[in-house]
Amino acid sequence: MTVAKPLPHESAELHVTGQARYADDVPAPAGTLHLAFGLAEVAAGTLDALDVEAVRAAPGVVAVLTAADLDSMPDCSPSNHDEPLLCTGTIHYAGQPLYLVVADSHLAARRAARLHRAEVTETAPILTVEDALAAEAWFDGGPRIWSDGDVEAALRDAPHVTTGEIEIGGQEHFYLEGQAALALPGEDDMHVVTSTQHPTEIQHKVADALGVPMHAVRAEVRRMGGGFGGKESQGNALAIACAVAARRTGRPCRMRYDRDDDMVVTGKRHAFRVAYEAGHDGEGRLTGVRFRHWALCGWSQDLSLPVADRAMLHADNAYDVPAMEIASWRLRTNVQSATAFRGFGGPQGMLGIERVMDHVAHAVGRDPLEVRRLNYYAEAPAEEAGGPAPRTPRSISGTSTTHYGQPVDDFCLGAMTDRLADRCDYAARRAAVAAWNAAHDVLRKGIALTPVKFGISFTLTHLNQAGALVHVYADGSIHLNHGGTEMGQGLHSKVAQVAASRFGCDPGRVRITATDTFKVPNTSATAASSGADLNGMAVARACDTIRDRMAEVLAADHQADAASVEWAGDRVRVGGAEYGFEEVAAKAYAARVSLSSTGFYATPEISWDREAGRGRPFYYFAYGASCSEVVVDTLTGENRVLRTDILHDAGSSLNPALDVGQIEGGFVQGMGWLTMEELVWDDAGRLRTHAPSTYKIPCASDVPDLRVHLWDAPNRAGTIYRSKAVGEPPFMHGISAFMALSDALRGDRYPMLDAPATPERLLRAARR
Ligand code: MTE
Ligand code: MOS
Repeated sequence: MTVAKPLPHESAELHVTGQARYADDVPAPAGTLHLAFGLAEVAAGTLDALDVEAVRAAPGVVAVLTAADLDSMPDCSPSNHDEPLLCTGTIHYAGQPLYLVVADSHLAARRAARLHRAEVTETAPILTVEDALAAEAWFDGGPRIWSDGDVEAALRDAPHVTTGEIEIGGQEHFYLEGQAALALPGEDDMHVVTSTQHPTEIQHKVADALGVPMHAVRAEVRRMGGGFGGKESQGNALAIACAVAARRTGRPCRMRYDRDDDMVVTGKRHAFRVAYEAGHDGEGRLTGVRFRHWALCGWSQDLSLPVADRAMLHADNAYDVPAMEIASWRLRTNVQSATAFRGFGGPQGMLGIERVMDHVAHAVGRDPLEVRRLNYYAEAPAEEAGGPAPRTPRSISGTSTTHYGQPVDDFCLGAMTDRLADRCDYAARRAAVAAWNAAHDVLRKGIALTPVKFGISFTLTHLNQAGALVHVYADGSIHLNHGGTEMGQGLHSKVAQVAASRFGCDPGRVRITATDTFKVPNTSATAASSGADLNGMAVARACDTIRDRMAEVLAADHQADAASVEWAGDRVRVGGAEYGFEEVAAKAYAARVSLSSTGFYATPEISWDREAGRGRPFYYFAYGASCSEVVVDTLTGENRVLRTDILHDAGSSLNPALDVGQIEGGFVQGMGWLTMEELVWDDAGRLRTHAPSTYKIPCASDVPDLRVHLWDAPNRAGTIYRSKAVGEPPFMHGISAFMALSDALRGDRYPMLDAPATPERLLRAARR
């Protein structure tokens, strides 16, 4: 079967030869205009007057659109109708678009977009947790509180209570391809070529902006040069601006942000503060935890509510906490609107409980791995989880339901932790690190092994659906579309492998082209790691419909049962005869049978009440564990991650090569978030880290000796070929690097390390 094979990415050759076309590479027709936004320079205040005379007079400028020039203000928000395309009087952040320049070249538009004069009455920007709480600047009407069990009693009766706090920084997506869009006004439609994870939302928002039905807007995406969540909603403004300008001028319009503008205009990962009070028994077993989450959401709501919810949903990570209460504030601040980013709040919630584990282990004087294992959820019976029985004892409470009431019936981290600890020689290396630290003052080493349990499904239940459209041509070639988008993760490759497996044909027969809202409607964002789960299943169903029709034709010819037709190795066998796949396609065509079908899938068994914080939001969990070893120079804070071993559960992998790639990339991105990527706003709310010169992402030389293995047991849930989603979960293996840095600083006092663990923070924590 074609699934499970480590085939190369469908665009690998195009990627490495530079021939892969991204939105901004699509050749534009003659007469195409180019757009740029003029941006606010202050973070908060009112725009009293905007003088754009010099902008209008600049060379190459065709039109300048301010709020006053538009009959109605288009909205860019994916959730709350709170994001006017252009400033309507209130300035919400430094970088907010004030007006739109339409010019005959990209450079002319950009140059002109600096020539305005804005009269502004500045007000004090809300930038910190304290500012926002004082101003009661928050979304969702105040804190959302979920509780499970009697936390008050658990903390009161606990022999020990460990309390603390961790600041967690945000993160710039740093997709290599910046945001881009091209709008082509047609006779019947507005055709928008965009770099988006969510074509249907672009279609919907552009239709709203133009005041037309969705059938008059076509959104198309061949691929993105990375999205990472930053292209779920952040492309809306460009697509809307292009469509509005194209409508007004009757000419094609295109827009791309250069890197600095991209960083200054668009939203990033949410920074969080997490405070904890953890009751435990003196051995490290938790009795109850109270968390407070403060999420910095930026100026508009965007996806902040589901992001903050997902942080709450991952506040347990792998641990069966008998009583838990979480209060979550979603704070409105005067900076870029924080948005989706790989893990969607999960990483921040998970780092909270991992910090608790590390801190409690220090308090009771035990190896943090022992304390983690003590608190693990009960292991699912081995034969069902697909692996060997673990050495870990069953967890204490034995309830094995999460704090939101979902049973954890597929837990396999006990066995995975054993396997990883053996493979990476954890015990011996822990001893070697201790010996090193006993002998060395300046260079200190640390090691940590941390688990990941990540819930798979959109928490907004209705998003868990997907559609597909498959055609088999009379020559035996297959063309298909589905609702998912390709951003480098290999979704199209996996889905093509699924189609080839359904037909038993050579994968070379299958072609997937650009995602297109005129082919597959009403799609969800390619997000929540569920692209292959949802679209793979929809495509399989469409393929099966066609294959069954083809089988009927053969069965009639051979007086055989349609179910007896065998599809394998690009051959089709029936009643002793054998055909090439293309012969069968030709026969079915000649028999006047439809060789085209749609397919549809909706995830079963999930239900979720977000008000109450109870239900079964996730179809299943994806698991993994990683172990990192680091060295820190305690005089300078300089540090390196030396080696990382990862064991990750991708179910029965659809494509092990792509999955290992996702795990490697996810880990490095997570390590970057927690160790070196630092966003700095000045006191006036201006982002000072707005280019690679000031914002450091990991480079190839920062990657440790990285050893990745797949767990390779079938998903217990009925997913496509029993695979598991793999896009986001490995990101959280970066936590082992952070915890190893914390371990290196361990002394009599617990090092209250904040994230990212930059050299400055490491030095500060070391001296405390
Ligand atoms: N991998 C690459 N190369 N580029 C990306 O932009 N995005 C991540 C992950 N892996 C991303 C990636 C995010 S945030 C998600 S939600 C998933 O891929 C989306 O794709 P999937 O659902 O097909 O896994
Ligand atoms: Mo991923 S943050 O769900 O796009």
